[in-house]
Amino acid sequence: MSEQKKPPKSRVFFVGMKLLHKPGNKPPQEKNSFFHTYYKWLLWLSLSLYFFTSYLITSNPNTTPTSPDTSSHVSNSESHAVPRALMDSETNSLGVLKNLKMFVYELPPKYNTHWLANKRCGNHLFASEVAIHRALLTSEVRSFHPYEADFFFVPVYVSCNFSAVNGFPAIGHARSLISSAVNLVSMEYPFWNRSKGRDHVFVASHDFGACFHSLEDAAIADGIPQILKNSIVLQTFGVVHRHPCQDVENVVIPPYVSPESVRSTLENFPVNGPREIWAFFRGKMELHPKNISGRFYSKRVRTDIYRKFNGDRRFYLQRHRFSGYQLEIARSVFCLCPLGWAPWSPRLVESVALGCVPVIIADGIQLPFSSTVRWSKISLTVAERDVGKLGKILERVAATNLSDIQRNLWDPRTRRALLFNEEMEYGDATWQVLVSLSEKLHRSYRTFSGSDELQSDT
Ligand SMILES: *[C@@H]1O[C@H](CO)[C@@H](O)[C@H](O)[C@H]1NC(C)=O
Ligand SMILES: *[C@@H]1O[C@H](CO)[C@@H](O)[C@H](O)[C@H]1NC(C)=O
Ligand SMILES: *[C@@H]1O[C@H](CO)[C@@H](O)[C@H](O)[C@H]1NC(C)=O
Ligand SMILES: *[C@@H]1O[C@H](CO)[C@@H](O)[C@H](O)[C@H]1NC(C)=O
Repeated sequence: MSEQKKPPKSRVFFVGMKLLHKPGNKPPQEKNSFFHTYYKWLLWLSLSLYFFTSYLITSNPNTTPTSPDTSSHVSNSESHAVPRALMDSETNSLGVLKNLKMFVYELPPKYNTHWLANKRCGNHLFASEVAIHRALLTSEVRSFHPYEADFFFVPVYVSCNFSAVNGFPAIGHARSLISSAVNLVSMEYPFWNRSKGRDHVFVASHDFGACFHSLEDAAIADGIPQILKNSIVLQTFGVVHRHPCQDVENVVIPPYVSPESVRSTLENFPVNGPREIWAFFRGKMELHPKNISGRFYSKRVRTDIYRKFNGDRRFYLQRHRFSGYQLEIARSVFCLCPLGWAPWSPRLVESVALGCVPVIIADGIQLPFSSTVRWSKISLTVAERDVGKLGKILERVAATNLSDIQRNLWDPRTRRALLFNEEMEYGDATWQVLVSLSEKLHRSYRTFSGSDELQSDT
């Protein structure tokens, strides 16, 4: 210790300290060098702890790797063990989320609220980007202290530039809007740079998620923007196999369906009321699907369903839009959920919320929140090549275990899990998103770096 009494560096430190003291004050030199040594010790200790824990994390084969260059290969970390008890423990209002802290960036309105001038923006099937943002703003996990936050939510609405021609969202500007937002936050705050975006969260609620294109070929060709590759993307797109459009840390989320519309439908048609339609589908169903760059809409599955079962008394198949179709779902036993361009569809959410057994026809689909929603107990899955046998398959279920499936499906906890409420409710879709994020806390800089002092000092 005696050799360190006047280390060379203490001079520099002393000069630095002098600036902080008023001219009249005599700087307490001995004390300073004591503190200097003390802080060096603390720094050394924190660093060793940090390296030790990150060694533990990276060397454990069951844990997701933490180094940035390998993280992009981890697409479906959904496979982490998830406490099933989540949906059952109603004890604490925040429960498993009580340690989670989320900072929500406040961006200029052109990135988000500006688009709400169009009423559809907050209500259409891609509106989870709006709903999650809104719910986070009032949620208890929101933190106003970014240095305390585990995750950083970047609220950019990219789905609300509705085409004047066909009314569909034009998402051509999505990439530039997002990278502009990232530039902004990385210039104005230190948090993006310090983690290279690893703890930043985005929503991509379109057909092929973060690839931002509605046709699979084009989506794959474009890929996920480089700027998002390190981050966490909440996306509606999900398949169980590897796919370039989920080659990013992600959480599969349900498409948006207005909880108010579901509630008002259920007032007239409760889940356990009469269901006089046996098998229901309403939506785009081409008799002669067009060959668009080598692909057919719905891989012709919808066309096959129509050709085979239109005219079958048991099937109620409609090809035209009708605003009251939720009433039809609420009066149906089975609701067909075939793929469209992408595997997912809002019918999944509507069927579950309204108690109609979803019949999922979309090979390889990765269903939202599959670790808490017991999909195999509440739905049927039919392979695309088996649509011709739909009648027989449904008959068998109706004769055997239909009431078991309905009982599971009608459990309020199940029906609540896929809906984004304006204000987060226990067990709802925003809640499930946060539960999924809490399983990714190894990405939190706060947790990852191990020491709060270290962060604010450097
Ligand atoms: C909205 O989409 C159109 C194409 O449909 C495009 O020309 C326009 O630039 C987009 N608007 C914005 C603000 O990105
Ligand atoms: C983050 O990095 C970028 C690019 O290197 C730089 O332009 C920006 O100023 C940095 N932001 C902060 C807050 O230092
Ligand atoms: C669909 O179109 C592509 C060219 O875009 C062509 O190569 C393919 O043979 C067509 N398929 C069918 C079944 O017509
Ligand atoms: C119902 O029966 C089918 C076979 O007919 C089976 O695949 C499915 O897992 C069963 N579902 C439940 C919830 O028991």
